[in-house]
Amino acid sequence: MSDDSRPSPPAGPSTARTAAVIPAAGRGVRLGPGAPKALRALGGTPMLIHAVRAMAASRAVSLVVVVAPPDGAAEVKTLLDAHALPERTDFLVVPGGRSRQESVKLGLDALPPGHDIVLVHDAARPLVPVDTVDAVIEAVRDGAPAVVPALPLADTVKQVEPAGTPGEPEPVVATPERSLLRAVQTPQGFDRATLVRAHETVTGEVTDDAGMVEQLGLTVVAVPGHEEAFKVTRPLDLVLAEAVLARRRLNDGF
Ligand code: CTP
Ligand code: MG
Repeated sequence: MSDDSRPSPPAGPSTARTAAVIPAAGRGVRLGPGAPKALRALGGTPMLIHAVRAMAASRAVSLVVVVAPPDGAAEVKTLLDAHALPERTDFLVVPGGRSRQESVKLGLDALPPGHDIVLVHDAARPLVPVDTVDAVIEAVRDGAPAVVPALPLADTVKQVEPAGTPGEPEPVVATPERSLLRAVQTPQGFDRATLVRAHETVTGEVTDDAGMVEQLGLTVVAVPGHEEAFKVTRPLDLVLAEAVLARRRLNDGF
């Protein structure tokens, strides 16, 4: 839930204005059959609405661009019209593409001038706390061209020689030192011009936007992420998300 009483970076005229692009055009194949993932309900409200509210909860964010399933832009627009956002926050809806990368690019193309900081946030991370959003924005304001929220790993990670057939044993080739690894979340924050340049020049598969900025040879910094910013990917993640919402409701006393 958004909590407007929390301290947020001031959004005065001297500070850069921030827009959030929310890629929400995926089907959610790993979640199983049903509506597109972003439109599935969490605590009775579509996941996408939670994600939009999570961005709008930051006082710095004045525009949210939702990248909808290619055939669902009108439905998403109706949905957003029906759910109140803070007065300071505008939104736009554009149809997405075949890959996440393409969807983010379509969202960036729709950004009007006047927003110098851009967040890219997965609709599939509906529960990210506003403090995490603000920490990312602050690090961009402090001069980093790209910022990722990141957490240390609980599991040890092994590099393997992938087996040709799923389920076959795979030889382990290396064990990277766990203390040097981080699991990366969203929102990722960018100097707008840098992100646009990355999307215009970097080709090939990447799994996050900051990875494209790394390919430009620029430094990406990590700030502390949050366990509630996890990505809803598989059915068990929905159970966890419902539990987090239930805990918040208890704590908020409603
Ligand atoms: N996404 C997108 N456009 C695509 C594919 C993905 O906007 N063509 C978005 C998803 O809607 C999601 C985010 O990128 O908010 C992260 O992707 P992921 O969690 O992989 O979602 P899906 O691709 O929908 O899920 P799956 O890979 O299980 O199909
Ligand atoms: Mg996917």
